[in-house]
Amino acid sequence: MWKTWRLLSLLLLVTLTLSGCGEPFVSTLRPAGEVAEDQFYLMVLSTFIMVVVVIVVMAIFTYVLVKFRRKKSGDEALPKQVEGNKKLEILWTVIPIILLLILGVPTVTHVFGQADTKVMDKEKRNPEDALVVNVRANLYWWEFEYPDYGIVTSQELIVPTDEKVYFQLKASDVKHSFWIPSAGGKMDTNTENENRFFLMFDSKKSAEAGEYFYGKCAELCGPSHALMDFKVKPMPKKEFQDWVKSMENYEQSTASATAGQGKELFKEKNCLSCHAVTPKDERPEQARTGPNLATFGERSKIAGVKDFNDENLHAWIKDPESIKPGNKMTGSYGELKDDEIQALAEYLKGLKTE
Ligand code: CUA
Repeated sequence: MWKTWRLLSLLLLVTLTLSGCGEPFVSTLRPAGEVAEDQFYLMVLSTFIMVVVVIVVMAIFTYVLVKFRRKKSGDEALPKQVEGNKKLEILWTVIPIILLLILGVPTVTHVFGQADTKVMDKEKRNPEDALVVNVRANLYWWEFEYPDYGIVTSQELIVPTDEKVYFQLKASDVKHSFWIPSAGGKMDTNTENENRFFLMFDSKKSAEAGEYFYGKCAELCGPSHALMDFKVKPMPKKEFQDWVKSMENYEQSTASATAGQGKELFKEKNCLSCHAVTPKDERPEQARTGPNLATFGERSKIAGVKDFNDENLHAWIKDPESIKPGNKMTGSYGELKDDEIQALAEYLKGLKTE
């Protein structure tokens, strides 16, 4: 009895935990774009067929079990033998073929449709028609480069709604996997080759989902794999173009005196050798060792996972290891005094487009 209860409470716990997976900004089951919708439809279709097959087979099985069981002991009579029956043989060959066709035709069509990235190879591709984003996955952070505009962001992916957004995926250290559950299936980012695919973000569903969608790393890559998140902010085309403009005309402001000190410290402590602080791609190699910080002040999260507030920002600068184990910033700048942390935090918070 005790065992049954334990099992039941465990099941209940699992149900409760998994019901959290229905959040609109992180769920495969709440598709928010055409690609995800098609994939969801394929899931529903295959699940439906499987369920029907199981029900029919179980029904026949139960019927046969009851009908042909030995009713009295000693009853040796055999029911009618149907081995080699032509009609039955044809029937149970044809039905699976039909089911496989129902399953196979749309699956193959969608697989090839969703793999169509020919437009990326066009010599004169119009960025207005097909936006390309180069994604680079790094140990526990993401970089997004917009090659048509020469701008780079980290940790936050800005995309226009209601059009195909093409992704070119790469990793700089180990294998990761790029996944926006609400927008479509994941794809590996490798070090040795580039993978390509496209996703779409529906304007209505994006608005319903709230501020942003979650992006995830879906390939076990190290101690902070589970913390390797990014945020996706879809916006209408017009707003997206405004954003691009503000990034192209980016100008850094140093609001307060403390922030000014922070800026100096940022140079002194060699932060600049890894982090770029403008969205323009001026020093491609060095600046890409760490996340681009040009829009740090606009981020929704600290280090991709912690709420954006002073306390978390200070904790992150003070001891990054305590927040993201195995990250590459740990130990790169020695111990900082409290007022230095304060100055750096002020400076970082001031890094914004407007
Ligand atoms: Cu990167 Cu898991």
